[in-house]
Amino acid sequence: MFQSTVYSARRKRLRDELSSGLILFLGNQEVPFNYPANTYSFRQDSNFSYFFGLEHPDLAGIIDLDEGTDSIFGNDVDIDDIIWMGVQPTIKDQAAKAGVEYAAPLASLNEVIKQALATGRKIHFVPPYRGETILWLSDLLDIPHLELKANTSEPLIRAIIKLRMKKDGMEVAEIEKMVDVAWKMHTTGMKMARPGVVEREIAGTIEGIALSQCGPVSFPVILSINGQTLHNHYHGNTLVEGRMLVIDAGCENDLHYSSDITRTVPVGGKFNARQKGIYEVVLNANLAAIEAVKPGVPFKEIHMLAATEIAKGLTSLGIMKGDPVEAALKGAHTLFFPHGLGHPLGMDVHDLEGLGENLIGYDEEVQRSKEFGLAFLRFGRKLQEGFVMTIEPGIYFIPELIDIWRTEGKLADFINYDVVETYKDFGGIRIEDDILVTADGYRVLGKPIPKTVAEIEELMK
Ligand code: GLY
Repeated sequence: MFQSTVYSARRKRLRDELSSGLILFLGNQEVPFNYPANTYSFRQDSNFSYFFGLEHPDLAGIIDLDEGTDSIFGNDVDIDDIIWMGVQPTIKDQAAKAGVEYAAPLASLNEVIKQALATGRKIHFVPPYRGETILWLSDLLDIPHLELKANTSEPLIRAIIKLRMKKDGMEVAEIEKMVDVAWKMHTTGMKMARPGVVEREIAGTIEGIALSQCGPVSFPVILSINGQTLHNHYHGNTLVEGRMLVIDAGCENDLHYSSDITRTVPVGGKFNARQKGIYEVVLNANLAAIEAVKPGVPFKEIHMLAATEIAKGLTSLGIMKGDPVEAALKGAHTLFFPHGLGHPLGMDVHDLEGLGENLIGYDEEVQRSKEFGLAFLRFGRKLQEGFVMTIEPGIYFIPELIDIWRTEGKLADFINYDVVETYKDFGGIRIEDDILVTADGYRVLGKPIPKTVAEIEELMK
């Protein structure tokens, strides 16, 4: 946890963004895995952690905008708990660590909320995403669970986005440490990518690196020789020469700052001509997109720049045809690059996504597209100093999608379907880095992870 003053200052900034009422933050509870006493590893809610920093289950926080007070609600453990869990800090001690003046048992939260409702005070809360929290919130506020979403506070959501999107130096340092652990995860994974190895041997090893060096992986490891499936969590294939291995993995620390990196390598360590050709196209798109990062540039524009690079590269390989700029404008590249260029990264690997993708990523100026491909872009608005974004272009040959497009003759002026057919056994390639938007440009975070063909072949030698 940071010093208590960090959390007090964050709550003060939040207070300054809103006018009146109560802000209610419910921390996360333990969640059963297969029976009540066997729970998943505890993971605190990121908003609760950002404003209060406390990592115990069953806590709630209230920021009273009218009284100017902050409170923490939770129960002290009893001797039965101590026998199983050891001595735990009291709620009063925990509140002090968060710079909060008032601490009270959980039962009194019901009273505070009841009184606020009775006097018609506004209670601001964010959309809950866990079943336990939905039930708790629904009981507390006496709102049917299906109506909670409609009653969330947009001013609160917008204020949190404003605060959390811009990372300060301390936060960037934490993210960067996680990219450095990802360096170890990825370089280890690359070295293990030999014919005969089963994917889960690598996935388990790199998840172990995360657990042993910082904390859990920041999302379930994506690792597959079938990289054409964008989020492939099946780890049962045996690696074979001629396939490429996509590893998309990151980790988070006890403050929840995370990393999210993707590398794609040839099984066995040597690119063949076909792999090198496609790889260089993705790499050019990755580098061109990173180079374009600076405050004031809409991320949607950078996405389209990457799309155009991909169209140019695939045209030079004979897979696409015609004018690549026009091809990208018409969306022909989305047969191969159907997802968005990246997303914000922070205390959530898709930072803040639980508050609503469109509120985070779009505004009056930049609206979300409804077109296939571009519609998957999670973030399109202008970049600002302090934002941390992933940049992760890819090229995938998805046989089922190719068949549909070919049958429809879709954008046939831009796609050499006969050539595409010969790539149906290729798989996919994605290259992803974590980028800080600086005052005049960008900084790629963390220790450089081998990325060029030469660097990867050297590491895997
Ligand atoms: N790296 C996984 C994701 O962005 O969803």
